[in-house]
Amino acid sequence: MLSTLVSGTLALALARGSIAAPGYQPAPLSPKILIINAFESETDVFVSDSQLGLLAQNITVPGISPQYPNVSCTSSGEVCQVTTGEGGFQAATTLAALIYSATFDLSNTYFMIAGIAGINPDFGTTGSVAFNRYAILLDSQYEFDYRQIPDNFSTGFVPFGTLAPGEYPSFIYGSDVFELNDNLRTRVVSVAKTAELVDDASAQEYRSRYDSAPANQSPSIIQCDGGTSNVWYSGSLMADTFANYTSVITNGTAKLCTTANEDIGTLQALMRGAIAGLIDFRRVIVMRSASNFDRPPPGMSATYGLLSADSGGFTPSIQNLLVTGTKIIDDILQNWDKVYKFGITPDNYVGDILNSIPGPIKPDIGAPAFYVNPVSTD
Ligand SMILES: *[C@@H]1O[C@H](CO)[C@@H](O)[C@H](O)[C@H]1NC(C)=O
Ligand SMILES: *[C@@H]1O[C@H](CO)[C@@H](O)[C@H](O)[C@H]1NC(C)=O
Ligand SMILES: *[C@@H]1O[C@H](CO)[C@@H](O)[C@H](O)[C@H]1NC(C)=O
Ligand SMILES: *[C@@H]1O[C@H](CO)[C@@H](O)[C@H](O)[C@H]1NC(C)=O
Ligand SMILES: *[C@@H]1O[C@H](CO)[C@@H](O)[C@H](O)[C@H]1NC(C)=O
Repeated sequence: MLSTLVSGTLALALARGSIAAPGYQPAPLSPKILIINAFESETDVFVSDSQLGLLAQNITVPGISPQYPNVSCTSSGEVCQVTTGEGGFQAATTLAALIYSATFDLSNTYFMIAGIAGINPDFGTTGSVAFNRYAILLDSQYEFDYRQIPDNFSTGFVPFGTLAPGEYPSFIYGSDVFELNDNLRTRVVSVAKTAELVDDASAQEYRSRYDSAPANQSPSIIQCDGGTSNVWYSGSLMADTFANYTSVITNGTAKLCTTANEDIGTLQALMRGAIAGLIDFRRVIVMRSASNFDRPPPGMSATYGLLSADSGGFTPSIQNLLVTGTKIIDDILQNWDKVYKFGITPDNYVGDILNSIPGPIKPDIGAPAFYVNPVSTD
């Protein structure tokens, strides 16, 4: 058999079609874990780590970001990494291209979003690494400029199909909330807690300007929920607007803690892949390390917080993605047969706000009018 005669580099060259081999169909790569980064700094910290060895295989995949055309994999192919490009649209298209690429079989793969984020100082501090259960799309709403809102509106954002902030939407688009496997999260959080987090003097100085814990304490591993928006907002009023909306759209369950631009795009593509039977949505980890706060320290302006301040959080947040991520990767590889191969069964609803994949557990998000699969009422 040809496939037993060729190995290593030659097999890869064949897989990429650079050597003609009539009738030869290489087996797709089936990584145990796929690291998902959005941009260069997040990528570099993983691919330049020689112990991980992600540059052993470069696999060019049509349809992923032309800025980051290669998926990087270890020589065994057990660990791979993709860079989506920034923002939800790039994340969704990159993941979709990968899921439907014949080069990969992702049906048993664990997906680990590893990216930086803003953080609400009530939940954590810079350098902290958060693991999200709920992901919420924050800016899929009506919006009015604050100078043209009624006196009794607390914000210019109004949920779809309603007359005022704070009301439950009467229609949605469907990408609004995703909920992840909490038992998987519990496992990876316990593993993540064995990592020694990096900190930095300028991050310590900046966070000391916040009044209270946890903002002014050392970084740690935390569990909380993450928002996605195209708008890169800052300041307590914008943060409160979206925290209030998070509560409305998740029926009071989720609390907005970290903020980034990509997760909903990534999760939407993964959800579609799960509906198509190509990936397992119970195998998704969202890891977000805090590079900055979502609001300035007390007494400073919102614009100062985003436009002028240097929170010092960027470097430790990037480093902590690696130190935490490698613990999780090691756990998945070392305990594959015992724990991960057949999956970690969730005890919570796992899926989207549409109940797109009906399971044994009823959704705790969404409403009967939204569900594409009905939920029994008993
Ligand atoms: C993969 O690409 C990187 C550059 O991005 C390069 O340093 C590395 O040597 C390549 N690996 C292989 C196996 O060609
Ligand atoms: C993609 O991989 C190929 C093959 O190793 C390499 O020649 C090329 O430089 C890589 N591209 C980038 C942007 O890393
Ligand atoms: C705001 O005031 C208008 C009347 O001016 C009233 O109809 C509406 O219900 C009020 N909305 C809220 C959110 O209080
Ligand atoms: C958030 O909700 C609280 C409680 O309803 C309200 O007092 C506050 O004004 C809201 N904040 C914003 C920015 O809408
Ligand atoms: C969430 O709240 C809305 C509005 O009150 C309600 O229609 C819906 O059934 C609730 N969903 C869940 C899962 O409780």
